[in-house]
Amino acid sequence: MDLRRPRALAAVAVLLAAALTGCTGDGGRDGGGEPGAAGLRDPYFPQLGNGGYDVRHYALTLAYEPRTGRLTGTADITARATQALSAFNLDLTGLTVHGATVDGEPAAVHREGAEVTLRPKGDVRHGATFRTVVRYSGTPATITDEEGAREGWLRTADGAVALGEPTGSTAWFPGNHHPSDKATYRVTVTVPEGLEAVSNGEPVNRRTGGGRTTFTWRSAEPMASYLATLAIGRYETRTARTDSGIPVHTAARGNPALLARIPELLEWEAEMFGPYPFSSAGAIVDPGLDAGYALETQNRPFFGTGTFDASTLVHEIAHQWYGNSVSPASWRDMWLNESFATYAEWLYAEDFGDKPVQESFDEAFAEEENWAFPPADPPTAADISGPPVYGRGAMVLHRVRLAVGDKAFFRVLRGWPAAHRHGNASTDDFVRYVEETAGRDLTEVWDTWLYGRGRPAGPGG
Ligand code: TRP
Ligand code: ZN
Repeated sequence: MDLRRPRALAAVAVLLAAALTGCTGDGGRDGGGEPGAAGLRDPYFPQLGNGGYDVRHYALTLAYEPRTGRLTGTADITARATQALSAFNLDLTGLTVHGATVDGEPAAVHREGAEVTLRPKGDVRHGATFRTVVRYSGTPATITDEEGAREGWLRTADGAVALGEPTGSTAWFPGNHHPSDKATYRVTVTVPEGLEAVSNGEPVNRRTGGGRTTFTWRSAEPMASYLATLAIGRYETRTARTDSGIPVHTAARGNPALLARIPELLEWEAEMFGPYPFSSAGAIVDPGLDAGYALETQNRPFFGTGTFDASTLVHEIAHQWYGNSVSPASWRDMWLNESFATYAEWLYAEDFGDKPVQESFDEAFAEEENWAFPPADPPTAADISGPPVYGRGAMVLHRVRLAVGDKAFFRVLRGWPAAHRHGNASTDDFVRYVEETAGRDLTEVWDTWLYGRGRPAGPGG
């Protein structure tokens, strides 16, 4: 299937799919509705996300059995229609859908690959807020993504961890899985008694009975679905507080000393980046899970085998501003996440160690792999987490700093996440924002460092 096909063709494909499974002939209560697009035409993941609606809230009610790996779920999705809809899609990888309703009425369900098409009894009116309930179950998949990293649902000896960048969240709940459609969440999960279940946001309830414990977590601030997480296992959980009163909820195997530094590092980053954007913070640390990377899951970054060190902690905390509060408009804008998070590591090495930022820049400059492609233009989906997105991305920021001076640069560091708090932004938005903040044209910097092919001549360019 060519996923780059235009919107109209995608709509025809959805209609055809519906016709083939007999999901037609409802007479259309209002008429005039058309199927929402099956994808949002992301440059790297054209099938991710769906057109025609905007999710406001996900209420997920889940039960997990670690012994069998079986997940049972109900997703109650509140969304607003951005067109009159005769049908619409959700993204879901694997699992079995048992049934769906739209505003309480049974909807026809058709599945093809990672697309679920729902055809409600009558059209959903343009502008209407509607509720979709999907009942599903199965053994969620571990997805090996384009760059060979494992994501989705990762089982551990006594539980599982859900990691969603860039597509893994499709493995455990149906939704509009593109970073441009952010929503609030409520995750309720029932697990065997004795296990903890930790998700994003704040804990609102815990109840044990009949040998099972049900945990409820709530994210009041919008979240991109790739940042949603769920960690189930025999974790030790703790709550600390920053000086400014932000709760820090952690779940770890044992009590690694670095956990105690989270409040201090949050305060240090907030001094530079502006007020912490969420109602709570924390971490999930599971050295037994070798994902090969840490992930900035919202409020509560995840650290697997060998990744819980101070520099990586600083990196994932920085993402709470850059990536989680201001999220990429598309996966092409990934460098906006990783450049700032890497720059935060450089700032940490200067403030807490004795390595000047310029030295970190020089090291990155000398690193061959950072020059494979321009950070704002990864050649393929396999490259969106490639070294240039991190190292060369951070070099872009440092060159901006050298061009505009410290005062304007630190105004950008604070101002950018404030300008797009809990929203989305693109590379073009960033270029415009920096030039407006600095009051000058920086074409030279962008052409050489952000978009140029290969390493500029001379040490440090
Ligand atoms: N975005 C993560 C971080 O920087 C790292 C990450 C997630 C990653 N998935 C990946 C790195 C896949 C390489 C490959 O914290
Ligand atoms: Zn990162």
